[in-house]
Amino acid sequence: MSETLNGRRVLVTGATSGIGAAIAEAVVAAGGRVALVARSADDLARQAERLGDGAVAVPADVTDADAIAAAVEQAAEHLGGLDAVVCSAGVVHPGGILETTPSDWQSMFDVNVLGVLNTVHGTLDRLREADPADVVVVSSMSGRRRSSVAMGVYAASKFAVHVVSDSLREELAPEGVRVTVISPGFVDTPIFDHVADDETRARYQETVSTQGLDPAAVAANVVHALAQPAGVNLVEIAIMSTNQG
Ligand SMILES: NC(=O)c1ccc[n+]([C@@H]2O[C@H](COP(=O)([O-])OP(=O)(O)OC[C@H]3O[C@@H](n4cnc5c(N)ncnc54)[C@H](OP(=O)(O)O)[C@@H]3O)[C@@H](O)[C@H]2O)c1
Repeated sequence: MSETLNGRRVLVTGATSGIGAAIAEAVVAAGGRVALVARSADDLARQAERLGDGAVAVPADVTDADAIAAAVEQAAEHLGGLDAVVCSAGVVHPGGILETTPSDWQSMFDVNVLGVLNTVHGTLDRLREADPADVVVVSSMSGRRRSSVAMGVYAASKFAVHVVSDSLREELAPEGVRVTVISPGFVDTPIFDHVADDETRARYQETVSTQGLDPAAVAANVVHALAQPAGVNLVEIAIMSTNQG
């Protein structure tokens, strides 16, 4: 896809790694400008430098509504407004409900669900000034069907993301703000690198590296959604590798 974003200004969360990093890169390559959000200021600064003049780093934790609102204002001042937000920040703690802990469940709902709500809430005033304006939410194939017991609570958080996005689409359509859900299957990213148990970490790392999509493929579809003509809302793009069993 060789689509152009004509200088559209896009805030991307989770922009230092995996899918979010690929989205930021694809937006800049398509002629857009990006504000990069994640918690690690050092990683963000490196990513912004790599992307050049079209990128600005605005560190924030998406679970902190005030911090994300402040980062959005910093981004909008730097870019002269915002046309779109892409929520890619997310975490997974694999394991059955009986094997995982309340803090694992809390973390997945805090980042994957409340993080999306905080980010969209924080950007809305800026998006209302744009035409067209976009909210793109990176959910998962796990938000359409639970893949395994080990993904039960993660899937619950992603099902919630789908419902929240459907509600937002209906609420925001009269204001001209489009809402798109991206639902990837496995993607080859470091998302499982933090898993403490050696055997579980190695198994999932092997799965995403052998069965996962290149994050650039997901990013190209995000650009495709952002490049739609005014008045056209791509509701959902579900995408998986042909290698995924
Ligand atoms: N990889 C897959 O197989 C796959 C499949 C389907 C859907 N997804 C979804 O795709 C999205 C991106 O996943 P990924 O695979 O790209 O993961 P990743 O490589 O682990 O990247 C996660 C990004 O989110 C940021 N982040 C995490 N917690 C955050 C917080 N509280 N506040 C702000 N930023 C935070 C991380 O940076 P910091 O740690 O510095 O904050 C990092 O930039 C997630 O929503 C995930 O659920 C992934």
